[in-house]
Amino acid sequence: MSTSLLPDFRLVSHSRVTLTELMIPSYANLGGKIHGGILLSLMDKVAYAAAAKHAGTYCVTVSVDGVNFLQPVEVGELVSLLASVNYVGRTSLVIGIKVIAEDVRTGTVKHTNTSYFTMVAKDDDGRPTPVPGLVLETPDDTRRFLESIKRKELKAQFSAEFDNARSLLAVAQQLDLLGNENCQLGY
Ligand SMILES: CC(C)(COP(=O)(O)OP(=O)(O)OC[C@H]1O[C@@H](n2cnc3c(N)ncnc32)[C@H](O)[C@@H]1OP(=O)(O)O)[C@@H](O)C(=O)NCCC(=O)NCCS
Repeated sequence: MSTSLLPDFRLVSHSRVTLTELMIPSYANLGGKIHGGILLSLMDKVAYAAAAKHAGTYCVTVSVDGVNFLQPVEVGELVSLLASVNYVGRTSLVIGIKVIAEDVRTGTVKHTNTSYFTMVAKDDDGRPTPVPGLVLETPDDTRRFLESIKRKELKAQFSAEFDNARSLLAVAQQLDLLGNENCQLGY
């Protein structure tokens, strides 16, 4: 691949964004941990910032993948969201977001999750509009781009298989599957 910059291509580094925010008490749930929705809102903001910087237009969130909060975030921690454009299609962009939480007193840093936001660039009339191509500057950029292609393929495959399974689901004939589940029929 040529290293000279083609017109209408932008470097991954051009749109890399980090957002850091202090977790204040009003962000906490009744258990004292930070609400997942607060983190999701910050992730949406940082995804928008990276997508809009790359696209040079207004962008909307279309789909979110890989949101698993495996470790709680505490009040007083500094949360940083590191976002970069992992993939671009014709009008869509995939933004990878790594979320870390730091306890500044102990210096402990935990990786809470990595998620992928698909955004679409819109023109002034609200129609999807083409985005610049992406210059992959490092082998990691290339790996992330290829992983995005694979994730997109597998998602489409899952979606098709699930639609098929749902169309074949015969509720009355499959009630025995509920035998070991934590539910009972109330009708
Ligand atoms: C997503 C949306 C732009 C698709 O519009 P559309 O007229 O169907 O446009 P297209 O079919 O041309 O799709 C545009 C791009 O979105 C992508 N896309 C559409 N649906 C998608 C989905 N469910 N997941 C991932 N990408 C999707 C397409 O692959 C295409 O990407 P590409 O141009 O890079 O190939 C439109 O449904 C929309 O505006 N949704 C509302 C988004 C919004 O307002 N979000 C804020 C939260 S409320």
